[in-house]
Amino acid sequence: MTTKLLSAQKPEDLSLAAELLRRGGLVALPTETVYGLGANGLDEAAVAKIFAAKGRPQDNPLILHISQPDEMTRFCRSIPQTAWLLAEHFWPGPLTMVLPVKDTVPKRTTAGLDTVAVRCPETAATRQIIRLAGVPIAAPSANLSGKPSTTTAGHVLHDMDGKIDAIVDGGPCRVGVESTIVDLTGRRPRLLRPGGITPEMLQGLLGQLDIDKAVVAQISDDTVVHAPGMKYKHYAPAADVVIVSGSREDAAAYIRRHWQAPNAVLCFEEELPLYGGLNPTAYGRQAEPETLSAGLFAALRKLDDSAIGTIFARCPEGGGIAYAVQNRLRKSAGFHIVDAARTP
Ligand code: TXA
Ligand code: MG
Repeated sequence: MTTKLLSAQKPEDLSLAAELLRRGGLVALPTETVYGLGANGLDEAAVAKIFAAKGRPQDNPLILHISQPDEMTRFCRSIPQTAWLLAEHFWPGPLTMVLPVKDTVPKRTTAGLDTVAVRCPETAATRQIIRLAGVPIAAPSANLSGKPSTTTAGHVLHDMDGKIDAIVDGGPCRVGVESTIVDLTGRRPRLLRPGGITPEMLQGLLGQLDIDKAVVAQISDDTVVHAPGMKYKHYAPAADVVIVSGSREDAAAYIRRHWQAPNAVLCFEEELPLYGGLNPTAYGRQAEPETLSAGLFAALRKLDDSAIGTIFARCPEGGGIAYAVQNRLRKSAGFHIVDAARTP
């Protein structure tokens, strides 16, 4: 199959994308978080193609994308007041809510769970495509399973050329990491994946928020997890990633002691001068954490080269969007973190 390249700027391309989706095709769509690999979320055969194109495990459910908040009522059995409150404040935007599912949604989309993840994305062109298609769009990140998510149409083309019907190019994604996922089916709201809607924003509105253990630690294959996707190896370049924590000086000294060709360094722009000759790549500025989230996956993809042995990575600390960046980087490192001040 030839993968068509469409533009989010052209109304006729949005109509064509909607038509391809309505006919059961696969179309990659731009969102403010990452590119999504979209299919009609109510069409089992179309959804099956998503799993095939990505090489995605069948037990990993998909997010259903809607064009406006009230469409939740078509797919969710019961919607707590909290969900409407979150929708009012953060939709359209980088937030996904897990709610009880109606049987209008096929099992392939939810991987047989009795819940469904729903999200109303910020990107207007994509909401327009969903509206024109007239169906909710199931869309995981548009990368090969296990690889870093895609934040440009070029990344999608790299992973999906010839496997999908079309890619709608909407430019680079603003946030750069996947949406925040909050499970609203329990007694208290639970954060399953941090993202652009930060824990502080959620706590500020809800007053309470549990953090799922999959957010902070490595999950083994046999553990029951709330977001099935959390247990898989994720965001991983071919090389081993090691996070080096500690002060700028301690980290640079540690990395200089351990670096051997052909290793690489993934660091903050402010630190580039410390890593001359050590194959450094900066992914954003430490002082502006939203540049780190916007640049992380592009940098991990650039470093996805089987010739590189180890990538020494610098990771931001703290809350806000830095919390999401830290989560993705720790996962790509398999939670391998060394403390530069205490490690010889
Ligand atoms: O920003 C995003 O959310 C992007 C864009 C395309 O919207 N999508 C995305 O999808 O990141 P994906 O499939 O790469 O990640 C979805 C995550 C997975 O970890 C999956 O296990 C979890 O959401 N998930 C989906 N349905 C769920 C459910 N009913 N309960 C708990 N977790 C669910
Ligand atoms: Mg993904």
